[in-house]
Amino acid sequence: MHTPAITGTGVFTPEKFITNAELVTAFNAYVDLYNSENAEEIAAGNAVAKEYSSEEFILKASGIEQRFVIDKSGVLDPEVMHPLLRQRSDDEPSLMAEMGVDAALKALAQAGRKPTDVDLVICAASNMERAYPAIAIEIQQLLGVEGFAFDMNVACSSATFGIQAAADMVRSGSVRRALVVNPEICSAHLEWRDRDCHFIFGDVATATLIERAEDATGAYFQIKSTRCATEFSNNIRNNNGFLRRSRPSGTADRRDMQFMQNGRKVFKEVLPIVSAHIAAHMENENISATDLKRLWLHQANKTMNDFIGRKVLGRTPAPEEQPNILQDYANTSSAGSIIAFSKFSDDLADGDHGLICSFGAGYSVGSVVVQKHG
Ligand code: COA
Repeated sequence: MHTPAITGTGVFTPEKFITNAELVTAFNAYVDLYNSENAEEIAAGNAVAKEYSSEEFILKASGIEQRFVIDKSGVLDPEVMHPLLRQRSDDEPSLMAEMGVDAALKALAQAGRKPTDVDLVICAASNMERAYPAIAIEIQQLLGVEGFAFDMNVACSSATFGIQAAADMVRSGSVRRALVVNPEICSAHLEWRDRDCHFIFGDVATATLIERAEDATGAYFQIKSTRCATEFSNNIRNNNGFLRRSRPSGTADRRDMQFMQNGRKVFKEVLPIVSAHIAAHMENENISATDLKRLWLHQANKTMNDFIGRKVLGRTPAPEEQPNILQDYANTSSAGSIIAFSKFSDDLADGDHGLICSFGAGYSVGSVVVQKHG
């Protein structure tokens, strides 16, 4: 048995971002357009008038201040309200693969490794650009990695579930080095015309390199243990899929083809699941709250993270103990906890423990206890 370690992480951040002010201006213009186009139906009681969104609500309810996106123009056009992403030919790299490769190269550079050192690529994300061939295999080919690759989807928990799969293979010796890549084009499965959720998501890609601790060329985070759990819920759901085409005509605009959630229920139901999950994992590892120097949590909602931080540590965490990135990136699904880990882990001292935890649709929750070396 070998000791798995995280030796590098990388983040691809799109160039464009949308502030809450820009988002709300566009959304409210769309509301005006919708209400005037449907004025007669609304007056007759056959349609419901849409209401304005507000910057104050978004910040207060979520803690989000802006989000990065691959395409800004379509999202902010009141007559479009979705990203305009060019259909690429089969000969071109797909968008997810391109974003994933950028993040993967950064993770490799940090670890002092070349793509040819890697023998497994897992593309773990919430929504795949296509069913097959696997995006992971395309990333493998673009990087020039030998070995094998596969896609997996556990929604917002995809990264931690991917890390568990990779760490277990490194531990057993079936692979020597694995890249877990999380390209998240959340802007394309978000319904930007829905006031309840239009502010939630952003686009990004993250990558994590996992290899034997003995192979590390510099400082690394030993993966001490991982723990994954799932429990079925319809409260976060997306019904898009290959059966869409076999439905009767007129279904192209069905609301359930995009991201759907019952945000209040998610908030209430997921918090106890995550708190209990982390507590049990820490107990198993014999790690007390005072041993834990950092929590890198899934980035969906600031109040939610504050609650989990307080529950886990038994006190209000200092901002540096539980870093949030959601104010800049919004919810980036599986990538959120890895962005936080990538940006806020260098300063930990030799021997310090930390915990990465992601949670979301499924329901699903995954946690990784790490210890800094070097
Ligand atoms: N602007 C202004 N008002 C808005 C609004 C907006 N964009 N969206 C909703 N509102 C209104 C609602 O209509 C509601 O009004 P009412 O009280 O008159 O009915 C009020 O604000 C509260 O709405 P609600 O949806 O209950 O807000 P919330 O406090 O639950 O916050 C979320 C919404 C989505 C931010 C929050 O529930 C959340 O973060 N949930 C967990 C999400 C999560 O983790 N999802 C995982 C996805 S991977």
